[in-house]
Parts: sequence; structure tokens; C-alpha cells
Amino acid sequence: HAHLTGISGLQPHEILFLLDEAEQWIEVNRNRSGSDHRLDGLTQINAFFENSTRTLLSFEIAGKRLGADVVNMHAAQSSVKKGETLIDTAVTLNAMRADVIVIRHMSSGAVQLIADKVDCPVLNAGDGSHEHPTQALLDALTIRRRRGTIAHQRVVICGDILHSRVARSNILALTALAAEVRVVAPSTLMPAAIAKMGITPFTDFDAALEGADVVMMLRLQNERMSGAYIPSTREYHLNYGLTLERLKRAKPDALIMHPGPMNRGVEIDSNVADLPGRSAITEQVEMGVAVRMACLDVLTRRSRKVEGWA
Ligand code: CP
Repeated sequence: HAHLTGISGLQPHEILFLLDEAEQWIEVNRNRSGSDHRLDGLTQINAFFENSTRTLLSFEIAGKRLGADVVNMHAAQSSVKKGETLIDTAVTLNAMRADVIVIRHMSSGAVQLIADKVDCPVLNAGDGSHEHPTQALLDALTIRRRRGTIAHQRVVICGDILHSRVARSNILALTALAAEVRVVAPSTLMPAAIAKMGITPFTDFDAALEGADVVMMLRLQNERMSGAYIPSTREYHLNYGLTLERLKRAKPDALIMHPGPMNRGVEIDSNVADLPGRSAITEQVEMGVAVRMACLDVLTRRSRKVEGWA
């Protein structure tokens, strides 16, 4: 089966194919028009071993809009709490004849491990600090719609780059689509291998913001910082918080993005997050449903004997 474990491994034309497929679902979702039953009779299991608001709900809405029977497994209420291993959980989901499985897990690589054990497509809804491919796709779709193109856009990604699966998937997707990506972080939160990804690392946020078309802010992933340096929120806001004053360094029409959940007053000020005409944060959430509809449709085409995965 085809899986979506990451942006890594996707060709630029495959990324664009998924974005183009997502376009058709935006209006359907907005107007509740053109109900679609292409996933009728299929069982979609969302297995979330880590908290989520946006990703879980939008995968659930996306599956339901396409007619799938959607079942959510919350790890906190599951037998994972009784010591069941990830592999045994995967084998159990498989035995229930799931047709597609969506997984979020706190460990990098957990999704691939499950993909190797089951007989249906697996979609990564975020695994540790590895990848969050549907987030990168919805971000790319938002940029393309708001800026007209992705190629040659200067996209500044600021925050905890070291622990962020959102940063990693976005770097892969945006560079594949020829954007100019700049990453900004305190040196302790910048991965050593960043230069190998073909992008420019900055520790000075003000310098990185010059001429930006898109400013994407990330949360400090405190839950992944075992023993690492954790900046105080005051210190962090002073150097890496997006304020109205700092935003002036970007282009006058630069797009403001955040994958959520936001920590207002830490990485982003409220008056920036809510800036009319400039903030795309709620639009990102909306694009999430369309992108996940596209991914569920495309990834199940082979088992539905439908042509068309690029
Ligand atoms: N952006 C994102 O993944 O949000 P959730 O953790 O709420 O799903």
C-alpha cells in the first residue's frame, strides 16, 4: 500500500498533485455542497497517542465528508495504558480490517513501524520530532492561495526548529517547491544538520525577517526538551517573539502563519496573530480539512481500484 509517512520521499509533482486535489474540497467544505461518498463502506481509524485538536478533528471531518466510517482511538482510554506495545496495537487495528489508519505518536519513526505491520494505507498525523506531512501540505496550500505561488517566496520559519516536525516537513515541502526558506532559532534549538538541507540558518530574527513574504511562527516544544536548554518565556519573547514592531522588517503584505497551538505573548503577540488581512492562521485550519480529504481519497485509490496517485 501507498502510505504518507512524510514529505521526504515525495517528488515535487506528487506534492503539487495533492495540493491540486485539495483545491476541489475547499468549496465543498465551505458550502456543504456536492456531498461525496467515495469512501462509503471504508473504515478509517484515527489512532492518536498524543494530544491534538486541529489534526484529529480535521481528519475526522475529512473522512466523514467523504463517507467513511470514522473511529477514533484515544490512547489515554486505550489498552496502551495497560502496557500494550505499539506493534501489538498495530496488529489489533489491522485485525479489525481498517481500510486506512491515521496515526499521531510521540516517537519519531512510530508511524513507519505501524505502516510496515498493517494491510492498509497509513497516514502520519505527526510522529515525535520527525514529520507532520499533512501540516506541510496545508501550509503550502495556504501560501499558494494567498501569495499566488510558492516558488521564490521568502519563507521565514522561526522557533524550536530542533524539535519541530512541522518545521522539518515544511522545509522539505517548501524547498521542493523552490521557495527560499530561512530558519531562525536560538543556537541551542537549531539542528546541526540544517545546512545540509540547503537552507540558511539564522540566530538573529530581525536579520532573517528582512524582505520576508511569509513568516511562520512555531511553539516551543517543551514536552520534547528533556535536559535541553529551555529559554524563559520573557527571554524568548524578547529575542524571538513576533511583535508588530518586528513584523515591519518583513514585506508590507507578508503573510503571518502559525500551525497552532499558539502560546500568545510568547512566540507571537495577539495583535499579530489576529492582524486582519495578514494573519492566515484560521485559514490554515480550514485548508487542513481540504488537504486531509485529498490525502484520504488519493491514498485509498489503490484499494478502491481507482486510478490516479501521481
Ligand atoms: N497543528 C497541529 O498539529 O495542531 P494539533 O496538535 O492541535 O493537531
